[in-house]
Amino acid sequence: MIKPEAVAAGHTGAILAKMQAAGFRLVAMKKTKLDADRAGAFYAVHSERPFYGELVEYMSSGPIIAAILEKDNAVLDFRALIGATDPSEAAEGTIRKEFAESKAKNAVHGSDSDENAEIESNFFFSGNERF
Ligand code: RTP
Ligand code: MG
Repeated sequence: MIKPEAVAAGHTGAILAKMQAAGFRLVAMKKTKLDADRAGAFYAVHSERPFYGELVEYMSSGPIIAAILEKDNAVLDFRALIGATDPSEAAEGTIRKEFAESKAKNAVHGSDSDENAEIESNFFFSGNERF
């Protein structure tokens, strides 16, 4: 997912270009907006964390780009490409280093396991939206 502040800032094209240059194939993509209920459901794993309310408000604050990306070793390679959660700790050349505003507003989301990638893909896309 490209998060609301990065979409609003006009970084969508540059972020997608970095993903494709890193060898990720675009299987599905859409621009959509999460309401608070759907943002809360997407990040339900964090519902007990102190930043959950802020996270739900932020993730429902504007349109996002949802995408399914395919590659060998995709989960780990994508997390390497996006960088650490906090952009001040993210390595040079990573997407968060270049585009994130803060630890909370950090430009992109990446799935943390193959299992969650499948759940999150199904959250946004039906079968006939994937190619
Ligand atoms: P993501 O799930 O979005 O790819 O990010 P992540 O794995 O790098 O980080 P995670 O621990 O899963 O946190 C999810 C998102 O919650 C926001 N966050 N805010 N204010 C804070 O201390 C804080 N900590 C996390 C970020 O938007 C983070 O990406
Ligand atoms: Mg995470």
